[in-house]
Amino acid sequence: MGTVSDAEKKPAVIFVLGGPGSGKGTQCANIVEHFGYTHLSAGDLLRAEIKSGSENGTMIQNMIKEGKIVPSEVTIKLLQKAMQESGNDKFLIDGFPRNEENRAAFEAVTKIEPAFVLFFNCPEEEMERRILSRNQGREDDNIETIRKRFNVFLESSLPVVEYYDSKGKVRKIDAAKSVEEVFEAVKAIFTPKEEKVAV
Ligand code: ADP
Ligand code: C5P
Ligand code: MG
Repeated sequence: MGTVSDAEKKPAVIFVLGGPGSGKGTQCANIVEHFGYTHLSAGDLLRAEIKSGSENGTMIQNMIKEGKIVPSEVTIKLLQKAMQESGNDKFLIDGFPRNEENRAAFEAVTKIEPAFVLFFNCPEEEMERRILSRNQGREDDNIETIRKRFNVFLESSLPVVEYYDSKGKVRKIDAAKSVEEVFEAVKAIFTPKEEKVAV
């Protein structure tokens, strides 16, 4: 009694944010390999939900085609389920929170505060180039939907980054560089200071 049981221990969460095509998924794969996190992409979970034939599938598909943000309730349930099923206690949550509603609802429901926010800063022209050559067969990787996603990013997602910045929690990365150079900057953030080797 009065002690915190294992079941109550909160997992460590890092939010990975950045515009569409800034390289979040690419760098998360690198972080998983080197630092033992579990990568949860909100977009990937929503796309899997469409494929599974869930009752929310059609709604999610329509929102994604329009570049709109799916109601938090749906996305948070998918994130919570994936966290439970992973067996891990440290997570990269990629592409979430995407708006103020996502942010406030996640905090209210899970009581989890992110350790920090990894923010990939990339010019729009470069993000557009990357998305148009991504070739993953995504229904939202067309110029019309890309424009809508950029607008949503500027209007709804950047304010979330600013919110965490005001709390000193944002680690901003120049994401316009090569995959290797970006990962060097990422590694510097994930490597504890005492382990960094002086050059
Ligand atoms: P996000 O998850 O942020 O939308 P992705 O990781 O899917 O972005 O990257 C978008 C596309 O750009 C992919 O085709 C990926 O291979 C490519 N890419 C990712 N990072 C870089 C980079 N630093 N330089 C050039 N291309 C990149
Ligand atoms: O992050 P990703 O580019 O994979 O997201 C694709 C789409 O999934 C977004 O444009 C949005 O429609 C939806 N999404 C969402 N809520 C999130 C993350 C993604 O509605 N938190
Ligand atoms: Mg992605």
